[in-house]
Amino acid sequence: MTTSAPIFLAKDGALSWPEIAAMRELIYPPEKLIDTPMHGIEWAQPQRRVLLYVDDSVHAVAGIHEREILCDGEKLRIAGVGGVMTHPKFQGGGYGKKVMLHLIALLQTEARCTSGLLFCEDHNVEFYRKLGWTLFHGEMVAEQGGKTGPFSFPNVMMLTLSETARTSEKINLCGLPW
Ligand SMILES: CC(C)(COP(=O)(O)OP(=O)(O)OC[C@H]1O[C@@H](n2cnc3c(N)ncnc32)[C@H](O)[C@@H]1OP(=O)(O)O)[C@@H](O)C(=O)NCCC(=O)NCCS
Repeated sequence: MTTSAPIFLAKDGALSWPEIAAMRELIYPPEKLIDTPMHGIEWAQPQRRVLLYVDDSVHAVAGIHEREILCDGEKLRIAGVGGVMTHPKFQGGGYGKKVMLHLIALLQTEARCTSGLLFCEDHNVEFYRKLGWTLFHGEMVAEQGGKTGPFSFPNVMMLTLSETARTSEKINLCGLPW
C-alpha cells in the first residue's frame, strides 16, 4: 500500500487540542512526564499549531507562540515553538522534520518574527540542530506562579529568521515559557 502525501494545516491552538490530546498522553503519560525536565513547569499554550495529516490522521504536530520578548532590554517579536511531537507509530519516518520545515517556512513568510526559540531535552538537540537551530547560552527570566524570575531549562535553542538569533544575551520571555 502506498502512503498518501502529507497535508499540512495551521489551526488555532485551543481548538486543535482535542486532535492531539491522545498523542500527547501516549508520549507523555504522567508517570513518564515526572521524570522529564518539563515536569513542574507552568507552560503557555500555543496560539496556533501546524498539524501534519496523512489520510486524515495526525502524524506530527508543532505549536507556535508569537511573543514580544525583551532581549537585553530591547523589544523583539519572536516565534516560540513548542509541543513538537510525532505519533510514536510514525517516529523516524521523517514526519517531525517535515512538520518543522513547514512551520519554519510559515514563520519565514507570514510571521513578523526576528527569530525562533524553543526548549528541548538533551536527546533532541541534534534533531533541531539539523534543522538549523543553535543553542542559546545567555540568561533567561520568565514567569512562573505569577512572578518573573530566573528560568533555566537543559537546552534553549534559537533559529535565525529575519535577523541573526541572539544566542548570548539576556532574555525576558515576558510571560510563561512554552
Ligand atoms: C523528536 C521527534 C519530534 C522527532 O520526530 P521524528 O518524526 O521521529 O523525526 P524524523 O524522522 O523527522 O527525523 C528527522 C531527522 O532528525 C533525526 N532525528 C530524529 N530524532 C532525533 C533525535 N532525538 N536525535 C537526533 N536525531 C534525531 C533523524 O535521524 C532524521 O535525520 P536525517 O534528516 O538526517 O535523516 C519525535 O521523536 C518525538 O515526537 N519525540 C517525542 C516527543 C518529543 O521529544 N518532542 C520534542 C519536544 S522538544
